[in-house]
Amino acid sequence: MIAPDGLVLGIETSCDETAVSIVRAGREILSNVIASQDELHAPYGGVVPEIAARAHVERLPLVIDRALTDASISLRDISGVAATRGPGLIGALLVGYAAGKAMAASLDLPFSGVHHIEGHIFASVLEENGVAPPFLALIVSGGHTSLFAVGELGSYEVLGETLDDAAGEAFDKIARFLDLGYPGGPAIDKLSKLGAADAIDFPRAMVNKGLDFSFSGLKTAVVRYVREAEAKGVNLRKADVAASFQEAIVDVQVIKALRAAQERDLRTIVIGGGVAANSRLRAKLAAEAEAAGVRLVVPDRKLCVDNGAMIAAAGHFRMSRAELTPLDASADPALQLSAD
Ligand code: KG4
Ligand code: ZN
Repeated sequence: MIAPDGLVLGIETSCDETAVSIVRAGREILSNVIASQDELHAPYGGVVPEIAARAHVERLPLVIDRALTDASISLRDISGVAATRGPGLIGALLVGYAAGKAMAASLDLPFSGVHHIEGHIFASVLEENGVAPPFLALIVSGGHTSLFAVGELGSYEVLGETLDDAAGEAFDKIARFLDLGYPGGPAIDKLSKLGAADAIDFPRAMVNKGLDFSFSGLKTAVVRYVREAEAKGVNLRKADVAASFQEAIVDVQVIKALRAAQERDLRTIVIGGGVAANSRLRAKLAAEAEAAGVRLVVPDRKLCVDNGAMIAAAGHFRMSRAELTPLDASADPALQLSAD
């Protein structure tokens, strides 16, 4: 159990960010340190699991120290520890999860092993956004593309999921194909500002059908379009390809999120995950939500990408309900998000 106003130290190392944050009362961020490994993985065009795990080992102690210093507190002030338990890369997860458990054991504090996606949902609970259920959550990241009906915090009903690639994965693959570097999402976001979103009419898969997503057809269409243009010697503007791809992938997410909210009569939509940092998604969803009379909660970009604050917030919620994770429970790269 943890006091309502307790300080939680949250650790996130499920992929390639080494991130630690101190959060008070489950919503007030005292510090939020994110050490990105982008430069280590960029030469390979994607995250190399072994490199990610090693970098977490090297950086985590420094990142923890920095988070405590930024928050102007010492370890003694903490009332609970939270760390991402899964899903993610097992070697990367283990570093933060083992460190979190060790801290909790040595300081005799409660511990929470947090589901990464529950963390992304809790990004909207943090700071001034302060959303309360019921709401619809669109969580779009490098590994997930999901729509959840959230009747109450802690209970997540899956309404739709990707049948193939995650949205972030599609951004990263198309960016690599266009030689835009890694990570691909921010690169496409930036280049798209120079291009015409209506230059090429890429497919919007399953847009009239249900709440699931599919992005592999869009990916293939972009590759085919570029290859055919090159074969014909057509002078292709990369910025137009990027902007048209981005428009297609954003359209599908906006349409499905609004359809899900309407079907479930949910008047609030929250977004989270790295792709929720995309400027076109943020702008288009804001406009469409407003037109539909739905409130849209958009966390700060730093809270959309992987961070420790969302893990601390979700951990605080679980620990305040006396839902502690036993220290003998291991990290789980395929951890499921339960519906209750
Ligand atoms: O949530 P996140 O930081 O890590 C995972 O849980 O996967 O999401 C990372 C993903 C990457 O695929 C990255 O390219 C994408 O989020 N991303 C973006 C943007 N910023 C990050 N995608 C589109 N536009 C962005 N601005
Ligand atoms: Zn994530």
